[in-house]
Amino acid sequence: QEIIDWVYSLQILPSSGRPVANCGFRGAPLLGSPADPHLDAENPLPYDASHLTMVFAGLGILLMLGDDLQRVDRDAVLSGVAALQTPAGCFTAGKFAPESDLRFVFSACVSCYYLNDFTKIDVDRSVAFLLACQTYEGGFGQRPGSEAHGGSTFCAIASLKLLGRLDSALPADSRQRSRLLRWLCQRQHRGFHGRPYKDDDSCYTFWIGASLAALGRANLIDRSALVEFVFSCYSGMDGGFSKYPGDSADPLHTYLALAGLAALRLEDERLEPIRPEANITERAHLHMLALHRAAAASAASH
Ligand code: FPP
Ligand code: ZN
Repeated sequence: QEIIDWVYSLQILPSSGRPVANCGFRGAPLLGSPADPHLDAENPLPYDASHLTMVFAGLGILLMLGDDLQRVDRDAVLSGVAALQTPAGCFTAGKFAPESDLRFVFSACVSCYYLNDFTKIDVDRSVAFLLACQTYEGGFGQRPGSEAHGGSTFCAIASLKLLGRLDSALPADSRQRSRLLRWLCQRQHRGFHGRPYKDDDSCYTFWIGASLAALGRANLIDRSALVEFVFSCYSGMDGGFSKYPGDSADPLHTYLALAGLAALRLEDERLEPIRPEANITERAHLHMLALHRAAAASAASH
């Protein structure tokens, strides 16, 4: 409950002195805003604005912890997301965070998916942008013309799947789909790496593994080599997983190593399965679907 309340304290609510593009979630109370978002909205700080990855993370945490999202100002969050869409269909991270690439397309799509509302964003434009990021290698770069990379490839596949456009945009029998699958499979040495000639790194267990799982092709990999690599990154000293075998553990690689195994349904008896494109457990995903059904039933009865 304390974590749920802390996430809500980071919500940026609308008010007369605050443009809608600033609304959503911040990552931390960095500017010293009051913990009560209503109090904060009365006296908004000019450079206090939402960040799309924090919107995704905030909503995802609430779902994983079983919250009912009742305190989310849906209209403000969705309008804040939509205000960050660029004319090309990409998304900017935030009003004062001008980076713009597939990380924020995914953050926007998954946030709309959690809230079950894609009506405020231009889906066709984003699909066109996503497809323009596929390179001659078969994977996706962060922007059109950028080198294909495991992280951006996950963002592209997951976004297309969440938008319900994966099979129309990359048909199962298309050259684009088979080049994508080939590129993903080529990312396995024993574990996965993010681009050619790079060393295996445990975080790509998720970025590459969840991409293959979202495509329904988790069967294409050498499962025992991957599990062996991931466990070679286990650091008994700290109790977590490191990037490379023998390094010290960090929370990012610990999460992504375990989430990748869970998305691929490896170690099934010890790890709760993860819904790859939504980056939450299947349990949290069912909870989300129940919230969507309850909202639809209540809208129909009014
Ligand atoms: C390293 O780049 C970058 C990563 C390991 C992260 C990749 C993941 C993404 C870009 C997706 C992030 C998604 C969201 C929603 C924030 P590098 O060039 O140091 O790594 P490399 O040498 O392994 O290629
Ligand atoms: Zn890594």
